Amino acid sequence: MTITHQPVISATGLFTPPDIITNDELVASFNAYVDRYNAAHPGADPLTHSSVEFIEKASGIKARHVIDKRAIVDPAIMEPRYAARGDDQISLMAEIGVAACRDALAHAGRDIADVDAVLCAASNMQRAYPAMAVEIQHELGMTRGFAFDMNVACSSATFGIQTAADYIRAGNARSVLVVNPEITSGHLNWRDRDSHFIFGDVATAVLVEAKDMAPAGHWDILGTRLKTQFSNNIRNNFGFLNRAEGKGPVDQSGPKTDKLFVQEGRKVFKEVVPMVAEMIIDHAAALGLDPAALRRLWLHQANQGMNRLIAQRVLGHEANEDESPTVLDTYANTSSAGSIIAFHKHSADLKSGDTGLICSFGAGYSAGNVFVRKT
Ligand code: COA
Repeated sequence: MTITHQPVISATGLFTPPDIITNDELVASFNAYVDRYNAAHPGADPLTHSSVEFIEKASGIKARHVIDKRAIVDPAIMEPRYAARGDDQISLMAEIGVAACRDALAHAGRDIADVDAVLCAASNMQRAYPAMAVEIQHELGMTRGFAFDMNVACSSATFGIQTAADYIRAGNARSVLVVNPEITSGHLNWRDRDSHFIFGDVATAVLVEAKDMAPAGHWDILGTRLKTQFSNNIRNNFGFLNRAEGKGPVDQSGPKTDKLFVQEGRKVFKEVVPMVAEMIIDHAAALGLDPAALRRLWLHQANQGMNRLIAQRVLGHEANEDESPTVLDTYANTSSAGSIIAFHKHSADLKSGDTGLICSFGAGYSAGNVFVRKT
C-alpha cells in the first residue's frame, strides 16, 4: 500500500432542521392523545401517561429536531405530515442530504468536480429506487462517478466510512461523500409510550479522501472495524412484501404497530454495552493503541447511560463531557448520524496528534469503529 492510498476524513457536514420538540411539548401532546384514546375506548385496557422525568432519567434526551413538528404534536394526528412532492421535484431525503454534503464540501474547500462517489448510508430510504444517493449525486452537480444506497440502521455511517475508505485503499476512488439523511420521525411510533421520545431528524455528511488530496487539518483514518450479530430486539417490519403477506399498510388506529420502529430497550442496553466495549478494546489493541489514552470518544447517541458505561470500560474511568461529548440531549437519537454530529460539533479543539474514536451501534445488531488521528 502506498501513501497515496491512505484514507482520511477531510471534513464533515451537518444539516439540522429548525423545528424543535421539547420533552414538555412531546409529553403534553402524548398525554392528550392518551386521554382521548381512553375516553373513546371505555372497555379497553387504558393507556398510561408518559412523563418528562422518566424520559430524561432513562435516556438523557431533553429535545429533538424534526422536519416539521405541527402534525407530530397534534394529538389528533401524532405522525409527521410532509407534503408529497412530484417526481420532477427533489425528494425530501435528498434535499437534507444535499444540504449536509454542501456543508462538508465547504468545510473541505472541495470542488464537487473532484468527488468520485456518493454513498447514502441511512436507516430508512424514502423509496426503493432510483437510489437516494444517485439523486443526491445529480443534485450536487456531479457529472461522473457513481452512487448507491446502503442501510445498516444506526451503524450506517461507520459502515459507509469503511466502505469509502476501502475504495480509497483499493484505488477505486479518491474522494467519496458518505451522507446520512435520517428522517427518523417517519419510522417512529409517536403513539408508543415506550419509544415516542427516542428519535430526531438530521442529516450528516463525511468526506472521505485520499491523503494526498486532503486539506490541511484532516483526520487520518488509523483503522476501521465492523461487526454484526443478529437480534430481533430492534426491528421494523415495514417492507415491500407487506402486501403479499396480507398485512397492508401501517395500521395507525392504535398505539402498537410492527411496521414502525419497535425495540426491547432494556435488552438492547444490556446486550450492546458489553459487545461494543469489547469490540473497541480489542480493535484498539490490534492497532497498537492504548484505549485509556484516547483523547475523545464520539459515541453513537442513543442513551446517555449506555455511553457512560461504554466510555468507562474503554477509558478505565468515568468520562467527562470533554472525553465523551453528548449531543443526544438536544438531538435525541438520530440513528446513524449521532456519532457524526458529535464528531462534527466537538472535534475542532483537538490538536495535531490527538487520537479518538467514532463509534456507532444499534439495530442488527451492528457496530462500527473508526479510529482517527488529527494531523
Ligand atoms: N413515561 C413514563 N414511564 C415510562 C415510559 C414513559 N414514556 N416508558 C416506559 N415507562 C415505564 C415502564 O412502564 C416501566 O415501568 P414499570 O417498572 O412499572 O414496569 C419503567 O418505566 C421502565 O421501563 P423500561 O422500558 O424498562 O425503561 P428503561 O429504563 O429500559 O429505559 C429506554 C427505556 C428505551 C430509554 C432504554 O432502555 C434505552 O435507551 N435502551 C437502549 C436503546 C437503544 O440503544 N436502542 C438503539 C436504537 S437505535
